[in-house]
Amino acid sequence: MAKVYFGMIVSLDGFVQDKYGKIEKLYESYEPHEEVLAAAENTGAVVLGRNTFDMAGDPDDYADHYEFQVPLFVLTHHPPIKHPKENDKLSFTFVTEGLESAILQAKAAANGKDVLVLGANISQQLLRAGLADELQIAFAPLLLGKGLRLFEHLEELEIQLEKYKTVETQQQVEIWYKIIQQN
Ligand SMILES: NC(=O)c1ccc[n+]([C@@H]2O[C@H](COP(=O)([O-])OP(=O)(O)OC[C@H]3O[C@@H](n4cnc5c(N)ncnc54)[C@H](OP(=O)(O)O)[C@@H]3O)[C@@H](O)[C@H]2O)c1
Repeated sequence: MAKVYFGMIVSLDGFVQDKYGKIEKLYESYEPHEEVLAAAENTGAVVLGRNTFDMAGDPDDYADHYEFQVPLFVLTHHPPIKHPKENDKLSFTFVTEGLESAILQAKAAANGKDVLVLGANISQQLLRAGLADELQIAFAPLLLGKGLRLFEHLEELEIQLEKYKTVETQQQVEIWYKIIQQN
């Protein structure tokens, strides 16, 4: 069954970007793995937070180079004035009515495939709203000390997970969890 999941690379101490706002150190040890590529293949739409969307620098690059050539839904209060370049597979929808609306639209566009959510802030909202089915967390072999924490602002929640897959590459371990129960 199609699922809503978020997938991020974190440092062992839980940061998705370093104290300078950079992610390169986390990706240095990343290697594509067939399981991860298959999961990407089964992803039919992606929901991005505005800050994650802005990481591309030039938004027109998505149509030419982004690994997910699918409909993209960007959660933002301020859609860009110039609509970014699209192609026959990749389109942009800027969603201002909140995460729930973005997920509903992404599920419809995914056409039975999975929906991936990217961004720390919006992943936290996803958990708070009880809308996530799975987490796929890859651990990079470093301690960053400071930066942007993935699991923050969740103090009111207790979430029970079930590990159902681990994917190991030379340097990283990726753990896939199902969300079993959220209180
Ligand atoms: N390590 C990894 O695997 C990985 C992957 C992806 C990203 N990252 C890092 O994570 C960073 C992004 O995470 P983040 O937590 O800063 O931001 P984010 O989740 O990507 O985006 C947050 C922004 O989205 C908009 N937004 C969020 N909720 C909204 C709502 N309900 N309605 C309308 N707009 C809403 C707001 O922007 P506006 O108010 O400006 O519109 C908000 O500031 C990136 O800079 C990148 O470095 C790491």
